[in-house]
Amino acid sequence: MNDKELLRLAENAAKNSYSCYSGFKVGSALLTDDDSVFTGCNIENASFSLTNCAERTAVFKAVSEGCKNFKAIAVVGSSDGDFSKPCIPCGACLQVLNEFCGSDLKIVLADKTYKLGDFLPFTFRL
Ligand code: THU
Repeated sequence: MNDKELLRLAENAAKNSYSCYSGFKVGSALLTDDDSVFTGCNIENASFSLTNCAERTAVFKAVSEGCKNFKAIAVVGSSDGDFSKPCIPCGACLQVLNEFCGSDLKIVLADKTYKLGDFLPFTFRL
């Protein structure tokens, strides 16, 4: 599974986005150490704060299926179907990724591939 393939899976997942309030569709594709992929989309709610981001949807799907070791996540987001601009994961999602991944987790965006540590250089851990 290369970065481009992972991005395509994230774009496909964005089709399931439930984003009737923001109109912003987000998709993610999370690659496990054993090369399984869990996809996710954002799922909004009339009670706005209950919205779940696409990245956390994918992480929670994976962890609930017993997978906790990840090597990459691709994320795309757009309000007009053009996924060519990078969609940087929000701080909440970075913190959730940080729970399971080291700072070297690959974050594949439309423009280039980053690492978790690029966006979250200092992390909260207990
Ligand atoms: N969103 C994500 O899915 N991931 C992020 O990292 C940031 C924001 C979603 C939440 C909401 O449905 C929409 O984008 C607009 O904020």
